[in-house]
Amino acid sequence: MDASEKKRSAAQAAIEFIEPGTVLGVGTGSTVNFLIEMLPDVRDRIDSVVSSSKASTALLRERGFEVRTLNETGEIDLYIDGADESNKHLQLIKGGGGALTREKVLAAAARRFICIVDDSKLVGMLGSFPLPIEVLPMAQEMVARRLLKMRGQPIWRDSFITDNGNHILDVHDLQIPNPLEMEARINRIPGVVTVGIFADRPADILLVASDTGVREMRA
Ligand code: 5RP
Repeated sequence: MDASEKKRSAAQAAIEFIEPGTVLGVGTGSTVNFLIEMLPDVRDRIDSVVSSSKASTALLRERGFEVRTLNETGEIDLYIDGADESNKHLQLIKGGGGALTREKVLAAAARRFICIVDDSKLVGMLGSFPLPIEVLPMAQEMVARRLLKMRGQPIWRDSFITDNGNHILDVHDLQIPNPLEMEARINRIPGVVTVGIFADRPADILLVASDTGVREMRA
């Protein structure tokens, strides 16, 4: 099974968690795109949809969903999103698609957060995937210098502007043995909008697709 087939299987498994009357939060990325394709099949179970990016909003609208804002819906029953890495505690690195800030807001507003991944994303320690950080453009050089002091190798994502009008710094070679501590430490740097470590609010359920099926892991 190739990575795309695994992503599709993980998305299919997540569909089963959508119960009648669900206020659904939808993440961003290629795995979530499979989920969005399947959502019309369970339209009758969905009360309303909130999206984490302009890209996902466009795909949802193409499928006939009216996308509401978080301010309109209040709490979300279920948030489904992908990840770039997960450890066994369901702490994540996210932001490969650059939507990390809105994703973190929706995860925080969700009663339940289900993360869907293929098995290549499950790691012993976070940090092999370059850590995305959304940064205010006027602070970008200062933030990059701080990350260098933390022994990371910060690289600006070329020609990329987030949905919020900011830049993304991808930090290579950071070892993250304590994700909670690292998330708080990077968030304290002035000019950082969001760091792509999801440890304070990890996933509740991780659906990991492999050649042998989809495994459900809980924190
Ligand atoms: C977007 C994300 C995505 O969830 C993450 O990059 C995984 O993407 P994909 O499903 O394409 O592998 O955090 O900001």
